[in-house]
Amino acid sequence: MKRLLALLSSDIGRKALMGLTGLLLIGFLIAHMSANLLVPFSKEGYNEYSHKLITNPLIYLAELGLLVFFAGHFVTGIVVTLKNWGARPIAYQRKDPAGDPSRKSLASSTMIYSGLVLLVFVPLHLVTFKFGPWYLTPDGSMRDIHRLTIEVFHSPINLAWYLIALPILGFHAWHGFGSGFESLGVAHSAGLRRFGQGLAVVLTLGFMAVPLYVLLGGGAS
Ligand code: HEM
Repeated sequence: MKRLLALLSSDIGRKALMGLTGLLLIGFLIAHMSANLLVPFSKEGYNEYSHKLITNPLIYLAELGLLVFFAGHFVTGIVVTLKNWGARPIAYQRKDPAGDPSRKSLASSTMIYSGLVLLVFVPLHLVTFKFGPWYLTPDGSMRDIHRLTIEVFHSPINLAWYLIALPILGFHAWHGFGSGFESLGVAHSAGLRRFGQGLAVVLTLGFMAVPLYVLLGGGAS
């Protein structure tokens, strides 16, 4: 415990924790986005997947893990940003790209803002889906999460919010993936950075596929 506290009170320790929790959250997002891709293809498949997930006793452990990663990522992100701002109380008048090997970009210098959008997005998302209306499938055997998903995106406000928030999530992951590995001291390779950026694009488009599917009339039964 003492060691953990010592680690968290150092700049390097906080950055490493932010990187680690961020990478673990990206792992969750890859799994979540992949499962969502069932929505346009198989109503039954999506409901069954969700049923297996929520009836697995290990789900509570997984949810606790997610909560800890999310809280750890958020808290370290805020602390690191406030420390950086404190180190330069007067903002730069002009910010030019620093060129290689600097990683400075629009995505990197707006991480705190894209992160704050996600901080609003995730609780609203949980209220909408996880704690949303509990429809049952016609045979009453499981939750009809597919019906809820389609219904949610029939609301223009929800649709607009997701189509705005998801690219912001992608923007956050665009810089976050490569930066997470660097904070852990694992790799500084341009290839890994490009891979992370590609993954951010795939995640964003994959998540946007469901609201766009509904927008284009999919799911109407
Ligand atoms: C259009 C995109 C998305 C759709 C349609 C969607 C749909 C869902 C649904 C239906 C659930 C409930 C699953 C269940 O209880 O079976 C859920 C849970 C969740 N979603 Fe999403 N999601 C989307 C994007 C996201 C994004 C971008 C994030 C994070 C930034 C996210 C984070 C979560 C979390 C943390 C849970 C709770 C997981 C749990 O407690 O087991 N989702 N989502």
